[in-house]
Amino acid sequence: MPTILPTTRHELGLLWSARPAMAGLLLAGHAVAGPAVRRVPGIGWVTADPVVARAVLQDHRSFTILGEGGVGDLWTQILGDWVPDLFDGPGHHDLRSRSRELFTEASSAALVADAWGSTLADAGDAIRAGDAVDVARLARVLVGRMMVSLLGLPAPEGAGDPWPDDNSALAAFATGERLATVALGTAGSTRLSPAQIATARGIVEELTAGVPEGWKSAPPDRLLGRCRELGLGLQETTGLASLLMVAGTETSASAMMRTTALLVDTGEQHRLLARLREHAPDRDAVHLGAPAASSGSPLAGSLPAGSLPAGSLLPGEADPIENVVREGLRVTSPASVIGRGVAQDVEIGGAHLRAGERIMLLVWSANAAAGPFRADRPYVRETRQLWFGAGRHLCLGAALARAEIAALLRTLWSDGEPLRVVRRRAQRRVLIPSYVELLVARERRQS
Ligand code: HEM
Repeated sequence: MPTILPTTRHELGLLWSARPAMAGLLLAGHAVAGPAVRRVPGIGWVTADPVVARAVLQDHRSFTILGEGGVGDLWTQILGDWVPDLFDGPGHHDLRSRSRELFTEASSAALVADAWGSTLADAGDAIRAGDAVDVARLARVLVGRMMVSLLGLPAPEGAGDPWPDDNSALAAFATGERLATVALGTAGSTRLSPAQIATARGIVEELTAGVPEGWKSAPPDRLLGRCRELGLGLQETTGLASLLMVAGTETSASAMMRTTALLVDTGEQHRLLARLREHAPDRDAVHLGAPAASSGSPLAGSLPAGSLPAGSLLPGEADPIENVVREGLRVTSPASVIGRGVAQDVEIGGAHLRAGERIMLLVWSANAAAGPFRADRPYVRETRQLWFGAGRHLCLGAALARAEIAALLRTLWSDGEPLRVVRRRAQRRVLIPSYVELLVARERRQS
């Protein structure tokens, strides 16, 4: 039986600050018993059932990402009439087949190491020195750097060297955030006003200004060069770039800061540290992965093969950090709802849906039902990885997102010391719940 409060009060506070009405819907989805699919006035059909949600995402005939209710509807209005093919038609299939190898486990690890290495090293040093680190800012800087690096955003005139500096990375992140904010208020309808469309187009142009040049001349080991080598045209590459920015910025930053807070707030950091200690290659070593090059990078799994903790890890998960990444994604579910238009009359979860209606999948509620945050929670079969969606639109950047979250957690808990939250502030009126500020520091100062 789910309890009324499925997660920490800080997490609930974040949901509430971001979108109070949505928070209410998500909590109701979690707490209210009744039919798996029901109608909510002003919203349409909703479900918090993970099995039904997955069935909707996998039934591409009956449900569409393009129609009213789906995110493709927003993109079509913003980017133009070529979007439907790229989003859901044969062009989408082609795009997905070609882009499959953009974000593999290996390429994601390399992207993270390349774009984040020095910033994470500095953050690790600060934590070890006993300083407080603002993980909310850090996550934005990191994700902003990733955007700049992925999209090859050109350095503006007079920009400092090395490019980007923290402020430029924060500016890139803020621009992506502004774009996502256009979607605020589309819970009831995905139709945008002409003013919203004009704003969104301006932001996309700003963000993708460097794409034509990058697509033409970036080396094949950069994303834009890779797109060209994979045979993606400039229009497809620009579309993909815009998509990456919106899909992969606030979501990742949100998961990074919230998983950090959850580990502290639930006390599960102690379980994580114990697991890491138990399975560390050298039991006397307190340094579990960072900082020195000699003890391995915080960007990579710190445990040698053969010393893996048994039980809750999935095949391919290198260590207990990855278990925590999976659990953090489940409990935070940054993309807390996924919308679809109903393309043809269909019966699902005992309800009869008519073509032209919309359904909202309460992904957060579906995932939260498995129970509170636990650092060693095993795989949950019902939800699988619903936080990344399912079916043909399953998150393209899932491996990158996991690598990003893992890299941050490894940095923060690298030396085996528990952390505390010094100060925090929730962000108001945003699509994806997050902190404006999340200051963390070691629980005790080093002697
Ligand atoms: C914690 C971080 C992330 C979460 C929770 C997340 C979640 C999701 C979800 C739920 C979808 C499916 C949307 C739908 O079906 O309507 C999706 C799609 C997508 N995501 Fe992510 N995402 C994350 C990070 C990223 C990153 C880092 C990137 C790339 C840089 C990315 C790129 C994409 C793209 C391109 C799609 C569209 C795929 C398609 O339509 O075929 N995401 N994501």
